Amino acid sequence: EEKLSSTKPLSGRKALVTAGPTYEAIDPVRFIGNHSSGKMGIAIAKELYRQGAEVTLVAGPLRTNFRADGIRLVSVTSAAEMYEACQQAFGSADLAVMSAAVADYTPVVKAQEKIKKKEDHFNLELTRTKDILKSLGEKKKAGQIVVGFALETTDERNYALGKLEAKNADMIVLNSLNDAGAGFGGDTNKVTIFQRGGKELRFDTKTKEEVARDIVDTIISSYYA
Ligand code: CTP
Ligand code: CA
Repeated sequence: EEKLSSTKPLSGRKALVTAGPTYEAIDPVRFIGNHSSGKMGIAIAKELYRQGAEVTLVAGPLRTNFRADGIRLVSVTSAAEMYEACQQAFGSADLAVMSAAVADYTPVVKAQEKIKKKEDHFNLELTRTKDILKSLGEKKKAGQIVVGFALETTDERNYALGKLEAKNADMIVLNSLNDAGAGFGGDTNKVTIFQRGGKELRFDTKTKEEVARDIVDTIISSYYA
């Protein structure tokens, strides 16, 4: 019998997704950033929406013009702004997927005027940013699901499991750099999903859209089935 109902697995659920890099200002014309394209987070936001969720995408500076009807876009620049936007949105969220490449350090002083070159050496003092994923993991209430990412170059399984624990996440998606065609900028990823309770799911190298489907399918079957 054909199912005519339009109820989707995530209907009535609110999802918060972060994507892209953050830019940490040094002075009015310079910043510290990274090469994150935001593609993975955007693909996850679209897939969550396709599965029925009401999606808020908090994105750092994207190099591609993002447009997707139905998804609420909150554009931010710095890690501090991303932190604030996420605290706002998480209150009413059922699910948070943190795929942004958030700067770990930001300049202690953001110079008001362009810094002029002087000596041969220049030291910039940096201070730690707030960990957004960890803050949501710590404050999550019963029923709220928090998903993080991990990108490692060595000892990746141990670091990923460490992040699952340290950030009180429900799930960590490990992005492997060890295989051709994975990581920043490209169109494919190879991921392993680590969940609470020791479940571990290994996936082949796929397009970011396919990876997003695997991640969202895992979220649905684990927490919303
Ligand atoms: N993350 C975050 N806020 C930060 C730093 C990281 O929300 N200030 C999130 C990322 O979005 C990702 C997860 O934490 O979901 C792991 O990020 P990653 O950079 O791999 O780990 P870190 O905890 O920052 O540790 P390190 O960079 O030292 O490996
Ligand atoms: Ca980091």
